[in-house]
Amino acid sequence: MAPHKVFVCAATGTQGGAVARQLRAIGWDVNTTTRDPNSPAAQALTSIGINVHQGAWTETAALESAIAGCDLLFLNMMPDLANPPSEAEFGTNVLRIAKAAGVTHVVYSSGIALPGAESNPFVQMAFAAKGVLEKAVQESGFQHWTILRPGFFMANYLVPKVNMLYPGAAETGLFELAFNADTELPMIDHEDIGASAVAAFQNPDKFHQQAIDLISEVVTVEKAMETMRRGMGRNIRAKYLTDEELEEAKARNPMLAIQEVLRLISSAGNVPTAKEWGVAVGTFEQFVEREKKDFEETYQNVSN
Ligand SMILES: NC(=O)c1ccc[n+]([C@@H]2O[C@H](COP(=O)([O-])OP(=O)(O)OC[C@H]3O[C@@H](n4cnc5c(N)ncnc54)[C@H](OP(=O)(O)O)[C@@H]3O)[C@@H](O)[C@H]2O)c1
Repeated sequence: MAPHKVFVCAATGTQGGAVARQLRAIGWDVNTTTRDPNSPAAQALTSIGINVHQGAWTETAALESAIAGCDLLFLNMMPDLANPPSEAEFGTNVLRIAKAAGVTHVVYSSGIALPGAESNPFVQMAFAAKGVLEKAVQESGFQHWTILRPGFFMANYLVPKVNMLYPGAAETGLFELAFNADTELPMIDHEDIGASAVAAFQNPDKFHQQAIDLISEVVTVEKAMETMRRGMGRNIRAKYLTDEELEEAKARNPMLAIQEVLRLISSAGNVPTAKEWGVAVGTFEQFVEREKKDFEETYQNVSN
């Protein structure tokens, strides 16, 4: 297969980084943008031959220059957290520029549908933006389009994500949770998102007009705790809040309100799906082993 040139959104981040590195590993060219080309993440991309342009998703000229000459697009957006609908505005801008530049195949990484999302205004707004972008991807007239809907990132247990989602847990090892011990998390390894995106780009006809839930393994919350505890030999544990405790705790930790919505995540998505698309997926145990160095750094203050 002739090499392609792919514009990868958010390559300095978790899933975009996996996609970009895996595309470089098969010898394809990758362009991306970052707001800070001097960051360690941007420098690491440059060191493996990724063309890193400076710019934000609101800067049309920077995007036009970075997307010029690309024939494929990995679309993955992060909202301005103070303004969740911005995700749709950013993404629509990238899609418009990509279409004008002659991109033929868009792989959009959206998110697994969350039952109960409407009960939390922030989650609802974030998912509304993803819905707008899924529709735009389908209706923008690209020769091929594919939608990936990843589940709950395994990387949510690592810095930097753990600090936002579970404040204090990285320092103490104690996760204060709205989840129940037996809540089943449809987990995804970001490297499996990368492999799925690469597979889609390599097989555009097979993946055309497909919306695919991406799940590597379904793991209960308590099993995830146990896997990290064993993997690191550190005192990782959970406090499962009662409904009464949750009401009080939500006032000091707004992330718990989002997690409360995710209590229903057990019934989200078709499981397991990545495998059905010819992508070999890993387990959470393998993830903890592979990312041992990052787990050790994240939980370095937690006792054995
Ligand atoms: N965590 C989960 O469990 C989960 C599950 C399903 C879906 N998702 C979705 O995954 C997406 C985030 O992906 P991720 O976690 O891989 O990202 P991430 O690691 O949080 O990284 C954020 C990326 O977005 C870029 N970025 C942010 N704002 C930008 C802006 N205004 N202009 C240009 N670039 C900007 C950053 O680039 P620079 O800082 O270098 O500029 C960075 O590359 C979100 O849409 C989220 O809803 C997450």
